[in-house]
Amino acid sequence: MVSFTKLFTAGLVATSAMAAPMEVKRFATPPANKRGAAYNDVAAVDPLANNGGISWAYDWAGSIFGILPSGVEFVPMLWGAKDFGGWITTIETALSSGSQYILGFNEPDMPSQANMSPGDAASFYKTHITPFAGQAKLISPAVTSSTNTGMGLSWFESFIGSCGGCDITGLAVHWYGNTADEFKSFVTQAMDTASKYNLDELWITEFALNADVNGSSDLATTTAFLNDVIPWLNQQDGVTRYSYFMAADRYLLSGNTLNQAGLAYVSQ
Ligand SMILES: *[C@@H]1O[C@H](CO)[C@@H](O)[C@H](O)[C@H]1NC(C)=O
Repeated sequence: MVSFTKLFTAGLVATSAMAAPMEVKRFATPPANKRGAAYNDVAAVDPLANNGGISWAYDWAGSIFGILPSGVEFVPMLWGAKDFGGWITTIETALSSGSQYILGFNEPDMPSQANMSPGDAASFYKTHITPFAGQAKLISPAVTSSTNTGMGLSWFESFIGSCGGCDITGLAVHWYGNTADEFKSFVTQAMDTASKYNLDELWITEFALNADVNGSSDLATTTAFLNDVIPWLNQQDGVTRYSYFMAADRYLLSGNTLNQAGLAYVSQ
């Protein structure tokens, strides 16, 4: 992995006044195209992959369930405890088919999702994911953007505190909120958290406006949001991968073709 050191000047140094030591961030060089597809139905990936719109895809699982377009890297995920059985066979298949990363549990800070305490998650991570550190790069469980105590980035900080030997090199987060500015502010905070724990990468594996969680409620608003945040994400050295929620009809597609929002997503 090629790493580089970026001297982070500008705002931080100015606001912390008093000869504060210059903050040093170390991030991996992002791929030329950081953009991915989060899918349930593999057929929804094809329209996004045309003309190199995305470089990777995931489906919250360890297997593709179908065939991805050529040139799209499949990134397996261990969703949570429900998938521990059969995981070794599943992940060995994905790794031998060329996957280079493993994603950790899905929203362990949410009772309705993987639902794990930071301590339990660290122990599960060491048992099920860390053994593959020699064969893939390991990404943390994906936490929500909740700012409640014990959730979101605060859950992550407790988790990583008990996961010293986990061999994790990237942080994964999700975001749901109301504006592009809120999104940028959260992502900036997540990049700072990744940097604080010397992680090379930040992945944003789900994000959307709150109004769009069940599909775009207004394509013009969704498109304006994507036109604002996608170029910004592409410029952030700390953000190495992102995937909007999600590659499906009524989200980035209408039927099985890209809608206005889907076109905005892949054309930045
Ligand atoms: C999304 O669907 C859920 C379940 O039907 C519903 O409770 C929620 O209000 C919906 N949200 C939006 C923004 O439409």
